[in-house]
Amino acid sequence: MANYGHFDDAQREFVITRPDTPLPWLNYLGQDEYFGMVTQTAGGYSFWKDAKLRRLTRYRYNNNPMDNDGRFLYVKQGKSVWNPGWKPTRTKLDAFECRHGLGYTRIKGRKDGVEVEQLMFVPPQENLEVWKVTVRNKTKKTQKLSLFSYVEFCFFEALNDMTNYQRTYSIGEVEIEGNAIYHKTEYRERRNHYTLFGCTRDIDGYDTSRDAFVGVHNSLGDPKAVLAGKCSNSRAYGWNPVGAHQVNLSLKPGAEETFAFVLAYVEQGDLPKFDAPFVLNKTKGREILKRFSDLKAVDAAFASVKQRWEDLLSIYQAANVPSVPLARMVNTWNQAQVMATFNLSRSTSGYETGIGRGMGYRDSNQDVLGFVHLLPDRARQRILDIAATQLSDGTCYHQYQPLTKKGNADAGSGFNDDPLWLILSTCAYIRETGDATILDAQIGCADIPGSKHTLRDHLEISVAYTRRNRGPHGLPLIGRADWNDCLNLNCFSDQPNESFQTTANKGKGDVAESVMIAGLFLYAARDLAGLYRYLKQEDEAKRIDGYYAEMLEIVESQAWDGAWYTRAFDAFSKPVGSKVCKEGKVYIESQAWCVLGGAGQTNGRAKKALQAVDKYLYRPGLGCALQYPAYSEYHLELGEVSSYPPGYKENAGVFSHNNTWIHIGWTMMGEGEKALEYYLSICPAAKPDHDVYRSEPYVYAQMTASHLSPTPGEAKNSWLTGTAAWSFVVASQYLLGVRPDFNGLTIDPCVPKAWKGFSVTRKFRGVTYTIEVKNPKGRSKGVKSLVVDGVKVAGNTIPVPAAGTTAVKVEVTLGA
Ligand code: BGC
Ligand code: NOJ
Repeated sequence: MANYGHFDDAQREFVITRPDTPLPWLNYLGQDEYFGMVTQTAGGYSFWKDAKLRRLTRYRYNNNPMDNDGRFLYVKQGKSVWNPGWKPTRTKLDAFECRHGLGYTRIKGRKDGVEVEQLMFVPPQENLEVWKVTVRNKTKKTQKLSLFSYVEFCFFEALNDMTNYQRTYSIGEVEIEGNAIYHKTEYRERRNHYTLFGCTRDIDGYDTSRDAFVGVHNSLGDPKAVLAGKCSNSRAYGWNPVGAHQVNLSLKPGAEETFAFVLAYVEQGDLPKFDAPFVLNKTKGREILKRFSDLKAVDAAFASVKQRWEDLLSIYQAANVPSVPLARMVNTWNQAQVMATFNLSRSTSGYETGIGRGMGYRDSNQDVLGFVHLLPDRARQRILDIAATQLSDGTCYHQYQPLTKKGNADAGSGFNDDPLWLILSTCAYIRETGDATILDAQIGCADIPGSKHTLRDHLEISVAYTRRNRGPHGLPLIGRADWNDCLNLNCFSDQPNESFQTTANKGKGDVAESVMIAGLFLYAARDLAGLYRYLKQEDEAKRIDGYYAEMLEIVESQAWDGAWYTRAFDAFSKPVGSKVCKEGKVYIESQAWCVLGGAGQTNGRAKKALQAVDKYLYRPGLGCALQYPAYSEYHLELGEVSSYPPGYKENAGVFSHNNTWIHIGWTMMGEGEKALEYYLSICPAAKPDHDVYRSEPYVYAQMTASHLSPTPGEAKNSWLTGTAAWSFVVASQYLLGVRPDFNGLTIDPCVPKAWKGFSVTRKFRGVTYTIEVKNPKGRSKGVKSLVVDGVKVAGNTIPVPAAGTTAVKVEVTLGA
């Protein structure tokens, strides 16, 4: 059982102790407009705002070796050539360590007594990244060496950059001034921006032509210039511009030297574009390099990255939590992941190439649920942006582009769960902030821009859409698919070149129905009725209660299969996820959402539905498969779900996202042991064997191969998954049970009986709550007493404190 690293909780870092991790282990830099991804061996790339249209450095996805482009430093010392991050040369190091922290990564490598440390981060609000580099001589002799930096520039539009060489091989342009390399391809004509790659120390040479630095027949593992110990001061004319600096160092025994490299995206704005014909006006670039030439400025910038995260994390921190993996996730890493998913949706990761998808309608709405406590104003704007891509009849563009904020016509619409998620995100925002004015924001509709539609109108449009679009059983129509993108019940795709997601529905008409959407509707209706009650609009609340009751009746009369909830009805009105099916008898999503929506509460079905999950889908240490049995053959009438090999992705893989809903389900039942056990079963920090799990131990992966696959426990597609937001909701609001409600903070933990207690600090609507939970009687759920600043109060919602209060002390005792 190999182990590749460990958590350093005090530093909020994950420490990787071997560079040859089972897969590249990634981290993100930046949280405003400039972003970078960096792996433990310094692989990755950077972009500004949009990974497709403003990519700064190149990355070759699905390469072999994997992850072979990045922010590299090479050392040439005598005959030996090495990288502090091990790759690309893979020269054996005497010591290696990579610390992934929040918004930064620090790689340290040592060979023959020389240590090189590379700290990479993006300062807040800056469109650049800094690599602070320290070279240390740990020997008793003077050491002479050359250090080389290396990045490969991308021609900004990433798709063109990697496909259209008849053009791109002739467009590359650079300039060199002092220690700075300017990448200015297409600047002369249509671009008003460039990339700067500068060194804050004097250099001893540079290269900007890849052929000169690497060589046409060499690889990044044996670049020509480094082997020769000398850059040739090449200037790229076309082909592939790169940035490489050479720094010669002579370090006395015990001496060290520190300097920095800066990689920046610079927009020229109103400045004159040129100093002379073809000569870039470098005013801004010079200013940036000058600023960071002062190492104090570098350190101050890094300190502000750390401080910003401490401030954000101070909004929710738990202490004395008996489960260490849970504490790590909820206090640090889950919140870091939530930031990444909020910012990047599903666009840019080790698995998402940044050229495909924009922001997902359902994805971004759900991302808000775990993010809203961190930066509610950004969540507010996001909700309005998403809502503006909904049409007046309730349909939604499934995706929109972050740069234009316009719906993406290629991806189209017709995913019938989309409209309802907007209700969940809006209610989460109002619960967090108490700010209901968001409802009155006039955002129009995608088909009638400038119309008077408010966000509140959109919520009602969503409700009406689901109610109006129902099928033979009275259940909501599924459309192209619901949350499960692969349940394409109307598609009937038999051509290999068709996309399951965008091919028009064929043949049978759009009659297939989704029980999951029915459950989601129940949940959304409860949310909305609660919101109307908060607004003191009882008539509206009652109207929604009526819709709720109507849908509940349909669910209970049409969708109970005997021991669990049916998943759907196909285009022939045959059940999907039923005992009558040969494969795919039990599905997870309908159990989850019917329970979350409040079905099965009075007739015992909620419990039975979860027991079915436990029996057929759950495996300890692995989590729940999406359905059982996996499909062993392709079903034309089911679509992509039956296209994956059994046990992977939506065909009975452990799809982490939907597991989280079951976790909430167990807490609703008061089953603290089960809830925590299930939570830990998919928790990356609780995976004992890195060689089996393979993905990063500090962030969730979208999918783990299930017990129905040949490779159980192997995770894929880490970082950008809806699991991030929902897991934070599970841990913070349902297990530890500190849950924002419209009228205040509700305290409702559900924990194993053996837990003696824990505490949570929560900043909420301007007040810091210090909440101490005690469990003297060994209960799982139920608040016996709530004492607020020394005064016992009824119920389990902390009353809104008097105006001006900034701190509140809360003592909670669990018990019946
Ligand atoms: C994947 C889904 C994904 C969908 C849309 C499918 O191939 O299995 O997880 O949501 O594509 O990109
Ligand atoms: C990934 C997609 O981003 C998400 O929207 C979808 O719900 C899941 N796959 C499940 O298919």
